Amino acid sequence: MNNRERFSSRLGFILISAGCAVGLGNVWRFPYITGQYGGAAFVLVYLIFLVLLGLPIMVMEFAVGRASQKSAARSFHVLEPSGTKWHLQGYACMAGNYLLMMFYTTVGGWMAAYIFKTLTGEFKGLDSDGVAAVFNDMLARPGYMTFWMVLVVLLSFFICSLGLQKGVERITKAMMSCLFLILLILCIRSVTLPGASEGLRFYLIPDFTRFTENGVGNTIFAAMGQAFFTLSLGIGAMAIFGSYIGKDRSLTGETINICLLDTLVAFLAGLIIFPSCFAFGVDPGQGPGLVFITLPNIFNQMVGGRIFGVLFFVFMTFAAQSTIIAVFENIISFSMDLFGTSRKKTVLINGIAIILLSLPCVFGFNIWSDFQPMGAGSTIQDLEDFIVSNNLLPLGSMVYLLFCTSRYGWGWKNFLAEADTGKGVKFPAWARVYVSYILPLIVLFIFIMGYYQKFK
Ligand code: PHE
Repeated sequence: MNNRERFSSRLGFILISAGCAVGLGNVWRFPYITGQYGGAAFVLVYLIFLVLLGLPIMVMEFAVGRASQKSAARSFHVLEPSGTKWHLQGYACMAGNYLLMMFYTTVGGWMAAYIFKTLTGEFKGLDSDGVAAVFNDMLARPGYMTFWMVLVVLLSFFICSLGLQKGVERITKAMMSCLFLILLILCIRSVTLPGASEGLRFYLIPDFTRFTENGVGNTIFAAMGQAFFTLSLGIGAMAIFGSYIGKDRSLTGETINICLLDTLVAFLAGLIIFPSCFAFGVDPGQGPGLVFITLPNIFNQMVGGRIFGVLFFVFMTFAAQSTIIAVFENIISFSMDLFGTSRKKTVLINGIAIILLSLPCVFGFNIWSDFQPMGAGSTIQDLEDFIVSNNLLPLGSMVYLLFCTSRYGWGWKNFLAEADTGKGVKFPAWARVYVSYILPLIVLFIFIMGYYQKFK
């Protein structure tokens, strides 16, 4: 056995992987994308993708991590047949992790800022337009957003510098548990608001005519991107945790647990957001500001709303942070694997780098808002998100997929043996034809169709 750091417990592993998966993707991105693409019909496609694409690919990432005992920067070197070029994926993974952080930290900063805003009563007595004005006002202030972004980054790096068990594992466990509880409470408040049923209908009863509003190809492309995003697949973010666990559990069983946890949180978030959107007359399709504009309205309507509001944003900041920490852990591990630098030094260098790299996203909402790379009204954040969610994640997932199924890569036999080592659910061997031939074609097809429709 090597001396790589390990998790102290099985629960620690599941929670930290769930901590990486559960984040802004569930509570911020899922509701706003669902709102933009028309509600329940989109949700249905998204759920199908989670099972058909997400589950098997997560098992593959874990298998590559556990078998290689390395981060994505080195794992392909260890497992690939000699002379092949699979390790180039390592660079795409690194780029993906940095790019993700470049916009994720800004949204994490918004969450943190909202703790403060709710605490000081900034939303008190405001109607939905007033609440929206507070959000837009924040976007216009680069200094303010930079402050909160930097704070979130520093805190996350501090936790990472403490090390895997003492820092990352311990803190994530506590945060995750609290988040579940508060989501449940908010859910009950939201679905019992007057006018909530309209929102429930939007969220839960598919209306496929909505598909055509955004284009079928485009909608399916978005659902695929969201499925990969929410499960953190394609850039080695999950693979790393495979490298920290022992061989006593099979990987498929653990993956099912993580996917269920993740889906539950996203589903609850939708149950909170959509009923309240309709109750307060907020447009569900308005984009990234959605949670920040609907939620303060709910808190205004609740007995003890200020306390619940503060708690919500505290736990949400935690959820964002547990993802940021996981991705940082990954970035740090890349550097340590590649350059053999110490943990402390690596943390310091990358901390500074991430702060600088996060600035364009912040400025994209104000001083650089003339740059609208994805069409009228779009921002630098939209561009960064598009590169990651609709390109690096699906294509990276394809590489993991082909690597694990092709005999020119690591190969099916090796993959299956690794995935099935240990107690628990086994990867279905009958699925070989599906994952080797059908799955890559599905991803490729959606990718091409989505691109065609988006840019035609
Ligand atoms: N899954 C994370 C979330 O939902 C985002 C993420 C994507 C993290 C890709 C790592 C890699 O917030």
